[in-house]
Amino acid sequence: MKKVLILLLISTIISAQNRSTEQRVDSVLALMNLEEKVGQLVQYSSGWATGSKTDRPEESSSDLLKAGKIGSFFNIVGAETTRELQRIAVEESRLKIPVIIGLDVIHGYKSTFPVPIAEASSWNPELVKKSARWQAIESSAAGVHWTFNPMVDIARDPRWGRIVEGSGEDPYLGAAMAVARIKGYQGDDLSASNTIAACIKHFAGYGAAEAGRDYNTVDFSERTFHEFYLRPFKAAVDAGAATLMSSFNEIGGVPASGSHYLLTKVLRGMWGFDGFVVSDWNSVGELVPHGVAANLKEAAELGLEAGVDMDMEGNAYFRHMVELVNEGMVSIETIDESVRRILRIKFRLGLFDDPYKYNNVETEKKNVLSDEIIKATKDVALESMVLLKNDGLLPLKKDIRKIAVIGPLGQSKEDPLGPWNQQGQKDYVVTVVEGLQNKLGSSAEIMFAEGCKILGEDRTGFAEALETAKKADVIVLSLGESLHLSGEAQSRSTLDVPGVQEELAKELHKLGKPMVLVLMNGRPLTINWFDENVNAILECWFLGLQSGNAIADVLFGDYNPSGKLPVTFPKSLGQVPLYYNHKNTGRPLNPKVPAYTSHYNDESNDPLYPFGYGLSFTKFEYSDLKLSKSEFKKDESIKVIFTLKNTGKYAGEEVAQLYVRDLVGSVTRPVKELKDFAKIKLNPGESKMVEFSITPEKLKFFDLNMDFVVEPGDFKVFIGGNSVDVIEQSFKVVE
Ligand code: GLC
Repeated sequence: MKKVLILLLISTIISAQNRSTEQRVDSVLALMNLEEKVGQLVQYSSGWATGSKTDRPEESSSDLLKAGKIGSFFNIVGAETTRELQRIAVEESRLKIPVIIGLDVIHGYKSTFPVPIAEASSWNPELVKKSARWQAIESSAAGVHWTFNPMVDIARDPRWGRIVEGSGEDPYLGAAMAVARIKGYQGDDLSASNTIAACIKHFAGYGAAEAGRDYNTVDFSERTFHEFYLRPFKAAVDAGAATLMSSFNEIGGVPASGSHYLLTKVLRGMWGFDGFVVSDWNSVGELVPHGVAANLKEAAELGLEAGVDMDMEGNAYFRHMVELVNEGMVSIETIDESVRRILRIKFRLGLFDDPYKYNNVETEKKNVLSDEIIKATKDVALESMVLLKNDGLLPLKKDIRKIAVIGPLGQSKEDPLGPWNQQGQKDYVVTVVEGLQNKLGSSAEIMFAEGCKILGEDRTGFAEALETAKKADVIVLSLGESLHLSGEAQSRSTLDVPGVQEELAKELHKLGKPMVLVLMNGRPLTINWFDENVNAILECWFLGLQSGNAIADVLFGDYNPSGKLPVTFPKSLGQVPLYYNHKNTGRPLNPKVPAYTSHYNDESNDPLYPFGYGLSFTKFEYSDLKLSKSEFKKDESIKVIFTLKNTGKYAGEEVAQLYVRDLVGSVTRPVKELKDFAKIKLNPGESKMVEFSITPEKLKFFDLNMDFVVEPGDFKVFIGGNSVDVIEQSFKVVE
């Protein structure tokens, strides 16, 4: 009874708070004229960064603020600089409505953390939450109220440059990472001065661009949409994300930023989202080139009616919304609803109560590039690396005398920052060479030769690289992509290591010396030759400020790598899209008699490295897989118990993964689906009984009628350290 009373009291308080927010929103709305209402729907990048001059506002940003004709700016930072914008908004405008300042804090503000796909490789939501927390602490100190992150786009095509910004190919892992980031950014109190509003993006389906070409057409079934691409968004909305960004792409003929089905029916009707939607950069205006609006005015009407509340850098709302209302094309009620959503988030951020809470210069000095946050970037970097191969060369012995770092990324200060590094400070980056020098000091000679550039055909550096390598006991190949080959509008038509870097490696290989590849990249690459010929491969992605120190810790065994791949590495581009949670088809490959079954006549169906794959310096063994029982009702949870043992000689962390297969459904079902994981630390010889739970929610899927249900039938459960090497059991679900 007491529990019920407490819950009742809490819900009364919360609803009272909400009611007070809603009452406050309505009281401001009632004072606003049409121009001021439309002003709240308008956002610009400070300085009108791009776009046609004809459409840009003629007025300066301060005049727009004084006139109440703008509600948000982004790409402007600094406690003092943003204070001045806020001062004009709350002291010189008629209604003194605070402005909301956004920024792409994707993996750091000035202190750069590993890129999101690297953080996802940690399979450690707690760590990723801490990373987002630090990013919020640092950026909020610099006047940022709102980040355009987490990006939760499922991506199955490594040609797409933005695969680097997400959490890979799986909805369950993607959802876990999205929720972790939202909790890190928004904390428990969005009105605190060191929490910022999150913005889940890009809603939706953006990662399925045909041929991996950014902004390209997306077309998949409604079932695929809901089953794979929308799941992380739904989890993020349920986690309380304050805002959401509509995407550039169309889905099956309807551009997301003009889709009433997506932005209103699904997002608000089915999911109950009460925050606001901001467009992506001019994605409302791009309804015209998409061919669903004849002009910017029609685009404005379509965008708002669909459910885009704020027009980022689009001019559509700024130029035409007042006119559309006065002509009766858009109702004032629709305008009011969008304004209400935006004011609601500004109230929740506490901007009405204290508009200058993010403008404390002392806090900025203390929290930006602090020693603690820089150390935090290293903690995250250590867990973000994935050991893809090791024939025993690693960990290197500390009595090693001569190391040759060869390759264009060995001394790069910029590339480890990765794309979308915002205000990343390359002078603070620790390179591979510096990391090894920091680790070994004067006890070893660290030699470096670039050998070649990342791009281009110039081989003139090979000779010096070979001469340098000849003097060394071990060669550290520091190869991969530049940060400029990854990120937005950076799709590639090949997945090979760029330029002549592989050729350089082949020349070095002829020396017969031990070689380890330290790979820096923003996407899976077809590193088949390296897998066959070098002794060890460490996937580093782009690790941020402490890159070199983290890499050196792993190379010398001061940290035992624990990362796992959040995305499949194909053997060839011809296999793409290649992902683990695929369907079985009516003619699954029969390796013994492949004829007339699903296969290539010149390539295997198998990946180079599967989803969930990653090695350790030690070995882990899975055994004694048991279920709480073999038959369950649809509303029962299933206990899955197994033993995990460290059978090697190093302490290490293993990401144990649980997959499920629904053998027969009203529609075809994936051959495996990730439904739980846990990162477990074990000392040499130590074993632990691990328990997972398969709840009914985890077995739900969109059935033949698109209802989200559990269907009775036979299932398999798989446990392992990746999506291929597993042990299995079966169970049955009954009505
Ligand atoms: C870009 C990106 C989006 C980003 C926005 C603001 O075009 O698509 O992810 O948040 O513009 O910079």
